[in-house]
Amino acid sequence: MNDTRRAILEAIGDGPVSGPDLAEDLDISRAAVWKQIDALREDGFEIEGGSNGYTLTDVTTYNGPAVEYGLEAPFSIEYHDAITSTNDRARELATDGASDVGVLADEQTGSRGRLKREWTAPSGGVWLSTVLRPEVAPARAPLYTLAAAVATARAAREAGVDARIKWPNDVVVPVDDEGGYRKLAGILTEMEGETDRIAWLVVGIGVNANVDADALPPEATSIRAEAGDVDRRVFVQRLLEEFDRLRTDLEGVVPAWRELALTLGQRVRVERASDELVGEAVDVTDSGALVVETDDGRETVSAGDCEHL
Ligand code: BTN
Repeated sequence: MNDTRRAILEAIGDGPVSGPDLAEDLDISRAAVWKQIDALREDGFEIEGGSNGYTLTDVTTYNGPAVEYGLEAPFSIEYHDAITSTNDRARELATDGASDVGVLADEQTGSRGRLKREWTAPSGGVWLSTVLRPEVAPARAPLYTLAAAVATARAAREAGVDARIKWPNDVVVPVDDEGGYRKLAGILTEMEGETDRIAWLVVGIGVNANVDADALPPEATSIRAEAGDVDRRVFVQRLLEEFDRLRTDLEGVVPAWRELALTLGQRVRVERASDELVGEAVDVTDSGALVVETDDGRETVSAGDCEHL
């Protein structure tokens, strides 16, 4: 959203402001004010034009300007009604030098999951990829994935869902007291960099939001199925605000993750690239690796696919 539109929204969000006053305050012509108000209405901002001036009465839409309006985190949003994959688009932007951009879509037609799996992304979900350029070593990259899982789980909890985290970064909803779950959201982080420094990170977050459960794989659930539809604009804002707080306090990420973990205390099977490990998940290290108590002693796993047994 451009600065003029942002300034107009800020002014009319608190009550009526006349066209001439806006023109004077923003140092633009009255015709330009009129044009911008028209464009904002087209973007889904409900603006009343009374005798005292313009008032913003509601934001009912889900698109880039709507998510940016009132967002308390420094991300700009590029919105698509439909796109192949927000991660693919975010990678393009990252390669072109972008930073702190969120690519958001209502629907994805070729979305990707972890380990080259398919990911179902029908209209109504929250499909979001953020481009970051943190000045940290690649070894710290997993913390951004954990931060995204925490931010997503917190936003879902605010929407009334009992969201927890399955190591490393699946956001799930428990279905029993024995570690059973349905998947609500997943995260796919991609990265480019050198041995000592990340060039860019794309953190892709897929949340089954306002989606019917029967449009999803059988092991999945949605916010709609768990708690009813959510205002996606507000949901994305909360998610990005939490994510922004966590990425600026990386030391706080693992403690925050632990509070929401469903995996700790569970008997798990973790598939690694070359073997698998079975035992009780007893802890997570400061870098986000899972500590598993096996029959042969403790093992620490930094990456893998984890299943609760
Ligand atoms: C997983 O396998 O659990 C990760 C799923 C990640 C899906 C998200 S949706 C937004 C972004 N775009 C993609 O193509 N994938 C990620």
